[in-house]
Amino acid sequence: MGILEVKNLSLSINGSKILNGLSVSFQEGHIHAVVGPNGAGKTTLGYTIMGLEGYRDFTGDIIYKGKSIKNLSVYERARKNITLAWQEPARFEGLTVEDFIKSSAKNKSRETVTDVLEKVGMSPGEYINRAVDKGLSGGERKRIEFASILVMEPELVILDEPDSGIDVASLNNMFKAIKFLKSNGTTVILITHSLAVLKQAEDAFLLCHGDIIQSGSIDKVSVYFKGKCIPCDHKNLPE
Ligand SMILES: Nc1ncnc2c1ncn2[C@@H]1O[C@H](COP(=O)(O)OP(=O)(O)OP(=O)(O)O)[C@@H](O)[C@H]1O
Ligand SMILES: [Mg+2]
Repeated sequence: MGILEVKNLSLSINGSKILNGLSVSFQEGHIHAVVGPNGAGKTTLGYTIMGLEGYRDFTGDIIYKGKSIKNLSVYERARKNITLAWQEPARFEGLTVEDFIKSSAKNKSRETVTDVLEKVGMSPGEYINRAVDKGLSGGERKRIEFASILVMEPELVILDEPDSGIDVASLNNMFKAIKFLKSNGTTVILITHSLAVLKQAEDAFLLCHGDIIQSGSIDKVSVYFKGKCIPCDHKNLPE
């Protein structure tokens, strides 16, 4: 049994079925990728696992370490060391980078902050006293958010399009950091459109119209990237 078992998950928003009886199993300490077209339901799956407001009213179950977390709030799930990095990170106006990172850190020392900034390729001298506000570029914000995830030492992390807005050099730092998470035993779910990100994973799932329609090796699932979608006779195949 996986560390996280999503069972027959169906979720409708405003009368539209977004997740459609989806079942998927994530293995402890593995790096998994979830790929699929725009609007397939990838972010929705992440939000539903996390238990965000508006994504709680579903059928099916979400089992974490053998127990249902279906009725737990987002805070209770966070206390179980489950976390999510947003596709579009929020800003925390007014906090310095140092305070922002410390607010999620297990170990709140300055050294933790400088070490993690280096891990995401940001010079501590340049950034530690900057404000986390609109003065940071999109890519900088995304990297700071990733730094805050690293210091949480999560057991399970969902990274929603971790490469969006990230330059090539920083992407390599991010890949190293993902490996670092794995070396600490974190289970990683990478939601992505990028073949480079997909290749960081050990296996992958293809999500289409609210259901997983293929799973397996990166080579197998990366066929998706060679065309619009893989040929299949699944009921969810776009018309
Ligand atoms: N709160 C919401 N209100 C209305 N529709 C929603 C809401 N959340 C998700 N949806 C719809 O659900 C579908 C799946 O959205 P989702 O964001 O999960 O897709 P995605 O696979 O992450 O796509 P992308 O690759 O573009 O990020 C879309 O059609 C989206 O418009
Ligand atoms: Mg998305």
